[in-house]
Order: sequence, then C-alpha cells, then structure tokens
Amino acid sequence: MKATGGSDDAKRRAGERAAAEATDGMVVGLGTGSTTAYAIRALGQAVNAGLDIQGIPTSFQSRQLALSAGIPLTSLDAVDTVHLAIDGADQLAGRHCIKGGGAAHTREKIVDAAAERFVVVADRTKQVETLDHPVPVEVIPEAWTVVTDDISNKVGGAATLREAERKDGPVVTDNGNVVLDCEFGEIRDPAMLALDLAAIPGVVEHGLFINLVDTAFVGTDAGVEEQPF
Ligand code: A5P
Repeated sequence: MKATGGSDDAKRRAGERAAAEATDGMVVGLGTGSTTAYAIRALGQAVNAGLDIQGIPTSFQSRQLALSAGIPLTSLDAVDTVHLAIDGADQLAGRHCIKGGGAAHTREKIVDAAAERFVVVADRTKQVETLDHPVPVEVIPEAWTVVTDDISNKVGGAATLREAERKDGPVVTDNGNVVLDCEFGEIRDPAMLALDLAAIPGVVEHGLFINLVDTAFVGTDAGVEEQPF
C-alpha cells in the first residue's frame, strides 16, 4: 500500500470512529486506502460481535480486506440503497475532496456518490483551505497521450503518467486503465475543473469529488474531530 500523510494512530482513530456509524441493516460502501482499512477492520470486528451489515467494496484491496475481516459483501446492482459510504481522501476542503492516490477513485466515486451519506476519514495533514494536490485522472490506455495534451492545452495542467513500483510500465487500475496525476497548482474553482476534466475524450473518471462529503472524521493526536457539512 502507498504511504500517505499523518500518523497511523490518527488514521486509526478516524477509521474506527466512522465504523461506529454503521448500524444493523445498513449497506456500507467500503473505501480504499490506509485510513479506510482501519474502518474495515473495525467493521469486521463489529460483524463478528453481531452487527448485521453488508459491504460494497470499491477496489480489489478493500474487497480482500473485507473478506478477511468477515464482512458479508454485496454489489450495487443487488441493493436498493447504500446507506453509508466510508472512504479516505488525499486532500479535503469542506465538501470537496481529491481521491485516487490508490488509483481506485472511479469505483470509489460511483459508490460514494450513490450513498445516502458519504463519510470521509482522514488525518489532519489532508485538510486544507484550497485544494492543491495533483488530481488523479483514470484514462483509457490508448488515450493517455492525447489526454495529456488536452490537460496541458485546454485545462492548463501538467499530467504525469503514474508509474508502477514493482512492475515495469504504468500503474494499471482495477478497471484495466492507466492514471495521470495532474498538477494544477491551487485549484480555485474545483467544480469547473471537474467539468473540464470530465469533458476530455478518453477520461474515464477524475479524482475531484465535488460537494459529495457529508461528514468528515478527522483524526488528530488527541482524538477525532467530527465535521458535518
Ligand atoms: C484510493 O484511490 C484513494 O482515493 C484513497 O482513498 C486515498 O488515497 C486515501 O488513502 P489513504 O487513507 O491511504 O491516505
């Protein structure tokens, strides 16, 4: 797993606090990443103690973790409602966040957006006034050069193909695509940037989650701050 931001204790506190929001009968979206992993493990412990939930994983990683934690799994097409989604973020500013550091943002966005309540779990290092983290963009492999050009010429960003660490060539997503990490500096109008990125042919999904966050649980050295929006 990639290494990110704050301390493991802060991540654990945030993840465990979010897991406590799950109640009997809920369908819960299971996000991806090191912070959500704490929530998934806590949900597994609660299931083993009698909690009756079903999980919808957002990646290979979260599916494997949920299976090993003992969480019964389902899928979007098998349920009427996703009651709660718990997911991490690379950066968080109010109701907006940037995701995709683990290349899972396409399925995460589908599940998080479908949920009645989307809860972000993060440590303090992720929280900012103005988003400025590179935006991951999942792209059809054949399109990566033309999308790179469009991001430069039409959207004013600089795209870098994400390279794998223990594989030659690029990171390949769970959907068989590649990821461009796109630098825009300070993102003054994230909603407009989201529209511009979505309009580029070859883009499958970008990591800007606009107005989706309902609650953030932010882990600190002292505890967890709950931020409802
Ligand atoms: C996965 O693609 C990402 O969206 C993660 O949810 C995000 O990178 C946060 O991960 P960490 O909790 O590991 O920082």
